[in-house]
Amino acid sequence: MMKAVVLTKPTKGEDVVLSEFDIPEVRPGWVLVKVKAFGMNHSEAILREFEIENDYIQKPIIPGIECVGEIDDPSDSGLVKGQKVVALMGGMGRSFNGSYAEYALLPSHHVFPVESKLSWTDMAAIPETYFTAWGSLFQCLRLTPQDVLLVRGSTCALGYVAIQLAKALGCKVIGTTHRESKINLLSGAGCDEWILDNGSLRGKVHGVTKALELIGIKTVQDTMMSVEQGAIVCNTGVLGKVYEWNHFDPIKDIPNGVCLTGFYSNYPSTRIIQDIFDFIDAHDLKPLVGAVYDFKDIRDACIALDGGKVNGKIIVRMD
Ligand SMILES: NC(=O)c1ccc[n+]([C@@H]2O[C@H](COP(=O)([O-])OP(=O)(O)OC[C@H]3O[C@@H](n4cnc5c(N)ncnc54)[C@H](OP(=O)(O)O)[C@@H]3O)[C@@H](O)[C@H]2O)c1
Repeated sequence: MMKAVVLTKPTKGEDVVLSEFDIPEVRPGWVLVKVKAFGMNHSEAILREFEIENDYIQKPIIPGIECVGEIDDPSDSGLVKGQKVVALMGGMGRSFNGSYAEYALLPSHHVFPVESKLSWTDMAAIPETYFTAWGSLFQCLRLTPQDVLLVRGSTCALGYVAIQLAKALGCKVIGTTHRESKINLLSGAGCDEWILDNGSLRGKVHGVTKALELIGIKTVQDTMMSVEQGAIVCNTGVLGKVYEWNHFDPIKDIPNGVCLTGFYSNYPSTRIIQDIFDFIDAHDLKPLVGAVYDFKDIRDACIALDGGKVNGKIIVRMD
């Protein structure tokens, strides 16, 4: 048996408990990973809060869309027992059991071998958050050192990482927060300029050539109205809790000459994951960790996630 968080219905952080659960049996196309640590995500709070009621969520479900660990049973994958791996997305923690457990049975094509000297805790900060920042910045926004990057809603784990990667590349970065008390965090994170966001940035930002929208549909049109002609806006986050753009009219809602794109972290690859680890190594970056909890304290970690009180990525390490 193993310890795991097992959910069947909407569950507040305060009600999260560890249960005994069978260690999954390996089968062809899947590998058994001994979880060493995992990062927590806003989307896991959404799953616990209400998404779990949808039919497409397997129930009971062990949540957790990412982890780092070692191959315990490689099955037919060609990986070897003890190999250091990263796993994320592809239905993890939604269509099949995820990482809030001592072991996870995962599809081999979503388990990526990595070479890294980082500690498990530092490694755990990387998979979902760095992959999403990387894909948003480089695949979608085609970021170059000459760009002025706006990160709207930058006081989330993803925002801090986007700032870190863009500064390592050499960009000028402008960050926003909706809390005056968090302005100092943006300068500490490396932003060149910071703005208190009251819902409209028009006339408040200048020269923005690339924008990473983390509040989402609630503010994306205002962001598009605030950037330069020829700028690209990438909608990646949903912090504003508006999930669909009703009555969207691309002719009138996207300003002339501005490009709108979106990033979905469902399609990681071994090459991109290793590129991210190599970039972190080459630029001597410290993976950004906001808080670390032991697995036995998973309830506290979930409360912290729900409360949005941690500045940066919450990591849970196995005991
Ligand atoms: N597209 C994808 O594939 C993908 C992948 C990963 C993440 N995401 C999305 O990216 C966003 C960030 O994810 P995360 O895991 O990094 O989140 P997180 O760290 O859990 O974000 C929580 C922080 O966001 C801030 N926040 C919450 N609501 C806000 C609002 N309306 N305006 C400004 N700030 C707000 C909160 O701080 P304060 O309210 O105190 O400022 C809180 O500290 C989420 O919406 C997540 O779903 C998307």
